[in-house]
Amino acid sequence: MKPEKKYPSEVYLNGKWLKPDEAFVSVFDRAFMFGDGIYEVTPFYKGKAFKLKEHLKRLQYCLDEIQVSFDAFALEELMYEALDRAILNEDDAAVYIQVSRGVAARSHFVPEKIETTVLLYAFPVTLEGFEKKTWEVIATEDKRWHRCDIKSTALLANVMANEEAIAAGFAENLLVRKGYFTEGSHSSLFFVKYGVVHTHPEGHKILSGVTRAEIVNICADLNIKVVEKAVHIDELVEVDEIFVTGTTTQIIPVSSITHKNKKVYTARKDSITRKLQKVFIERTRS
Ligand code: PDD
Repeated sequence: MKPEKKYPSEVYLNGKWLKPDEAFVSVFDRAFMFGDGIYEVTPFYKGKAFKLKEHLKRLQYCLDEIQVSFDAFALEELMYEALDRAILNEDDAAVYIQVSRGVAARSHFVPEKIETTVLLYAFPVTLEGFEKKTWEVIATEDKRWHRCDIKSTALLANVMANEEAIAAGFAENLLVRKGYFTEGSHSSLFFVKYGVVHTHPEGHKILSGVTRAEIVNICADLNIKVVEKAVHIDELVEVDEIFVTGTTTQIIPVSSITHKNKKVYTARKDSITRKLQKVFIERTRS
């Protein structure tokens, strides 16, 4: 049974606060036509932002990479206004931001003059109880482009990968590029081998996860060694623990991986994942 998603109570669109059924963008919006837009999802624990600057910094990085001139940090106030207007300023929530290059007659090349389309809204999310979950996942070929560090709205490959998992009763799809794991369809990926935490190095093959960065920090504080090196699917025999991370996912252990209809991994331990979850909860709830 797929989880049902609700519309937010209100959205901010290009300077106006509107009900979802009053909020429209042009069919010539380049995010609609080309996926020519950037998005960001920022968590708020009981109204308190977690890593807000890091999320806005990534939004700015991605907009700069696609040469959309826009000040991401100018959205901070609007994010809090969205929480207030949605009466979510004391709840667990997230703010979705999307900045599209804008509206213009269809052309692949970027038109001279174009104004961004800015969408922003707050929505309730369940941020409690992730420590009680484990995910059974699949692993499939990573069919995405070569700039996965850009958090673009052009997410068809991620959508198809995630749908393949959910439709088959799994919780996530771990992507494999030339035999090496990159990340999940909407999460970052970690492995534990001989007490050492392994994760794919930053670069164009993965999104620079904000939660990923926090996990690396927590490992450092707990003197848990981290190796930023891709793990090959053949190394799974040596892997004791696997967990995925993300803004809404937080930290969830993977109990098994099915690849080409064969179970290729079953978790053997979870001690390091549990330690990291405990500190993560302290940091997000303090
Ligand atoms: N997804 N990798 C991918 C491909 C993602 O889409 C995400 C987040 C992550 C985790 O990044 P972070 O820790 O900064 O959330 C990794 C968001 C939440 C989404 O698409 O809704």
